[in-house]
Amino acid sequence: MAASAAATFTIGTAQTGRSLPQSNPFGLKFNSLVNFKTFSGLKAMSSIRCASELANCLKGVDVVVIPAGVPRKPGMTRDDLFNINAGIVRDLVTAVADNCPGAFIHIISNPVNSTVPIAAEILKQKGVYDPKKLFGVTTLDVVRANTFVAQKKNLRLIDVDVPVVGGHAGITILPLLSKTRPTANFTDEEIEALTVRIQNAGTEVVEAKAGAGSATLSMAYAAARFVESSLRALDGDADVYECSFVESDLTDLPFFASRVKIGRKGVEALIPTDLQGLSEYEQKALEALKPELKASIEKGIAFAQKQTVSA
Ligand SMILES: NC(=O)c1ccc[n+]([C@@H]2O[C@H](COP(=O)([O-])OP(=O)(O)OC[C@H]3O[C@@H](n4cnc5c(N)ncnc54)[C@H](O)[C@@H]3O)[C@@H](O)[C@H]2O)c1
Repeated sequence: MAASAAATFTIGTAQTGRSLPQSNPFGLKFNSLVNFKTFSGLKAMSSIRCASELANCLKGVDVVVIPAGVPRKPGMTRDDLFNINAGIVRDLVTAVADNCPGAFIHIISNPVNSTVPIAAEILKQKGVYDPKKLFGVTTLDVVRANTFVAQKKNLRLIDVDVPVVGGHAGITILPLLSKTRPTANFTDEEIEALTVRIQNAGTEVVEAKAGAGSATLSMAYAAARFVESSLRALDGDADVYECSFVESDLTDLPFFASRVKIGRKGVEALIPTDLQGLSEYEQKALEALKPELKASIEKGIAFAQKQTVSA
């Protein structure tokens, strides 16, 4: 790819299957201040007419972002999306395995707690699974946690950093308020209210939109942030940390969201320190989320293992 002075990522373009170095967005424009040495351009597809079109779109790509699928309607959980989105993620990841097996894969499609394990199994079946390059995008949980804490504590948003661990649905979303930077003190009531609000923020948006979709603008912002972090890492920046739902040995679950260090080859390290010295509230919440997260992971694995994917 050609060198570029700065990068503009466009999210939500309606154009199909073309390379769009300076595309015309109808959605959000995220102007990166980072000077990338090696990256420019974006390919975007909002619909796929045939397999060859998808293959052409994926060839030569370093980072694939998968937001395809149905969003929730009021009253639905993310797990209710499983039946449709599992197949969509299976097919798209199969195409990634065939056309750009070395790419970073960002999975946004819900239920992330299941779609990431599905992607892992499909990549294994294709013989190209690299756990360091498969990411469930949980950035929006961090964006929400930072925003709500900044509002509550009258802090500048740019200064606030709250790690969010676990998974990406309901009680599996666990903001570690005790690890907030800069250090902030919370009453027990504030911890309960903030935790529940962060866990239910997606549902809040789904209900406010009353059937017209889920969080799109904030998700686009979060996706752009995670893509920029990935590009910075691929570009050689040695100081890239994000929370993400990845294959993990930090707990007894095979996948777990935590802060990770991202480098040129993907996840360079899982950061265990956030999970050390948890408050009693957080420790209990961590134990409480494990059965649900385990079940979602196993559901994804079981789905993928029933598929026949040509090697
Ligand atoms: N990870 C997160 O934090 C997060 C946040 C918000 C939404 N989501 C999820 O992202 C997904 C999309 O939500 P949305 O609100 O953008 O929905 P949307 O309906 O606005 O957009 C979905 C897009 O997927 C495309 N699509 C549908 N089926 C496809 C297929 N088989 N192949 C390729 N593309 C296909 C549609 O054309 C559409 O452009 C949902 O699963 C939603 O739950 C995740």
